[in-house]
Amino acid sequence: MNIPFKTRITDLYGIRLPVIASGLMWLAEPVYVAAVARAGLIGFMTSASFPDPAALRAGIRKCRELSEGKPFGVNIMIRVSRDGTDRVTPLIDTVIDEGVKYVETAGNNPEAYLKRLKDAGIIVLHKVPGVRYAKKAESLGVDAVTVVGAEAGGHPGIEPVGTMVAAAAAVRAIRIPLIVAGGIGTGAQMVAALAMGADGVAMGTRFLVSEEIWAHRKYKERLVAAGETDTTLLLQSMRNTQRALKTEHVAMIQQLEREQADTKTLLPHIMGPIARKAYETGDYEQAMLSCGQGVVFADKIEPLAAIVDRLEAEARAAMDRLHYIYRALPQAAAGRAT
Ligand SMILES: Cc1cc2nc3c(=O)[nH]c(=O)nc-3n(C[C@H](O)[C@H](O)[C@H](O)COP(=O)(O)O)c2cc1C
Repeated sequence: MNIPFKTRITDLYGIRLPVIASGLMWLAEPVYVAAVARAGLIGFMTSASFPDPAALRAGIRKCRELSEGKPFGVNIMIRVSRDGTDRVTPLIDTVIDEGVKYVETAGNNPEAYLKRLKDAGIIVLHKVPGVRYAKKAESLGVDAVTVVGAEAGGHPGIEPVGTMVAAAAAVRAIRIPLIVAGGIGTGAQMVAALAMGADGVAMGTRFLVSEEIWAHRKYKERLVAAGETDTTLLLQSMRNTQRALKTEHVAMIQQLEREQADTKTLLPHIMGPIARKAYETGDYEQAMLSCGQGVVFADKIEPLAAIVDRLEAEARAAMDRLHYIYRALPQAAAGRAT
């Protein structure tokens, strides 16, 4: 019998492996998030992908129906809209009203919304691109924190730090359950994170090639073919650094940045609907699509459950390797333990 993986994160969410499927703009919608839940992990539906709170409500209901009683959550981006409107509170009202138990916040400081979420009994995981933000989140009273390193798809922070360093530094600094992310796409990496003292890992890019992600097959085939050097950082000039797949569109934005284009010039090229259209048509060259260096591990289009099974098998193989090393060198191991 396989010994279960048990950490503070598997306990917090009641999941089979300490792996979180983090929010994915346009892509983490009910079918995918429910597949994550049925595979025994927890996924977070991206509230920003829904046009309004009513659509989010319908999405939550659909996800609940498809999840077969397994846990799932909602990702909420904490941000101030350009026109100053509070778009966060209506999303929080909706998740509370719908009885969602798990929320992943990201973006700005969640302080203003935390009390309402906690009063509603919601478990709040806050995601940050650096240890100092994690410490701040811990001091505010979030239940768990995700620290994202430089390899990550999406926002690795304005001063990206590699996941190996970010994770080890976070372990020293943080007492609440800690998840690390950024370039993680194998079970062996998950074991490495646990060995460093983290309670779990989060993944985004690895799951993009799952069959339940609705995006066009041509896009997924590009990801399968991609290696670890096929992503790049951009938008540093806007202090909004992103890691995305290298595409013609991204090269054009990077050229504009070299020419010191201002935010007003850049904005039309990074609008969300451009990415959404590329996911629909498969014409990935014409968009900026978040993608992490761990794309090298996204090697096959297959059902989400098959990816999770592979992660588990890889994790168990990694544990076996460590047991073997430990057993093969009893004196060295004992010596090191003292
Ligand atoms: C296509 C894509 C879209 C993403 N969209 C969001 C988002 O809307 N909100 C968010 O909090 N994080 C978003 N992220 C970041 C992920 O939630 C996660 O932090 C990241 O993917 C982890 O690093 P990895 O890609 O190396 O696994 C996105 C990542 C990708 C790859």
